[in-house]
Amino acid sequence: MRRTGALRALVRETELSPSHLVLPLFVQLGTEERTPIEAMPGVARHSIALAVEEAGAAQAAGVPAVLLFGVPADKDERGSGAYDDEGVVQLAVRAFKEAHPELLVLTDVCLCGYTSHGHCGVVRADGEIDNDISLELLAKTALSHAGAGADAIAPSDMMDGRVGALRAQLDAEGHSGVPIVSYAAKFASAFYGPFREAAGSAPAFGDRRSYQMDPANADEAVREALLDVDEGADMVMVKPALPYLDVIRRVKESTRVPVAAYNVSGEYAMIKAAAAAGLLDERAAVLEALTGIRRAGADVIVTYHAREVAQWLN
Ligand code: PBG
Repeated sequence: MRRTGALRALVRETELSPSHLVLPLFVQLGTEERTPIEAMPGVARHSIALAVEEAGAAQAAGVPAVLLFGVPADKDERGSGAYDDEGVVQLAVRAFKEAHPELLVLTDVCLCGYTSHGHCGVVRADGEIDNDISLELLAKTALSHAGAGADAIAPSDMMDGRVGALRAQLDAEGHSGVPIVSYAAKFASAFYGPFREAAGSAPAFGDRRSYQMDPANADEAVREALLDVDEGADMVMVKPALPYLDVIRRVKESTRVPVAAYNVSGEYAMIKAAAAAGLLDERAAVLEALTGIRRAGADVIVTYHAREVAQWLN
């Protein structure tokens, strides 16, 4: 059954198509420029206008969705830029929906890009993250994104109970139709390094291991995903993707809801760097990696390769 291309296609079990891809975009305020990210060739922080153009090009190639990350002009202790109705993501969502009404606009909900200390929640005087106060601010952020017209809200902070808090707030304020894509199993990973350069969100002290998951735990990932579904998540995400293919499979089998996998910045950087050094065939490696993520059980893949992959697949 492997002798010809037609035979192989006839029995191929896993399909990779642009319709399952989400392109992350970094949108910045305070400059009209494109700021390249050193560790991620081909990825940059964009002004809103440039990001709208990028999104249009991705959509033309067949990518149906983007995931927005905001880079505000100012940061403070409580990340107030995250829930400012005139904040970077809110302004961007309006511009995206106006320019590309059919494009799905997902927004990342977290405080780390907006707090002066770079943590995903509010930090107490004793240095601990205050889970429950953080929930209020995260819910405010989600509400503000939904009000701007976001098609789906993606909380990535890993506070306990945030899906329920966001769902309640959205429902109470007339956004019961806005789905929640929850980063349910988000591991404390070394592969986020380049992203933190892109978003300027590296923690100023400590690390994220008191709220992100221990890379050694898969039962716990299933538990986290089931809890999020219980609280109202419409899709659950596993992140990173490639070192966690078993987790993707188990989360898919135990939740039976749509599962997204985030092929993160470090995974992208590895392939780009290897290809640039002449060590790998980039296109073949990317297609194989993403097919593997789909085969593991991901319905949706969030990837910085999205536009190129869509072009290759066309
Ligand atoms: C933070 C957030 C992170 C990513 C998305 N949202 C990383 C972190 O915990 O610092 C990582 C994405 C990537 O590496 O591509 N809320």
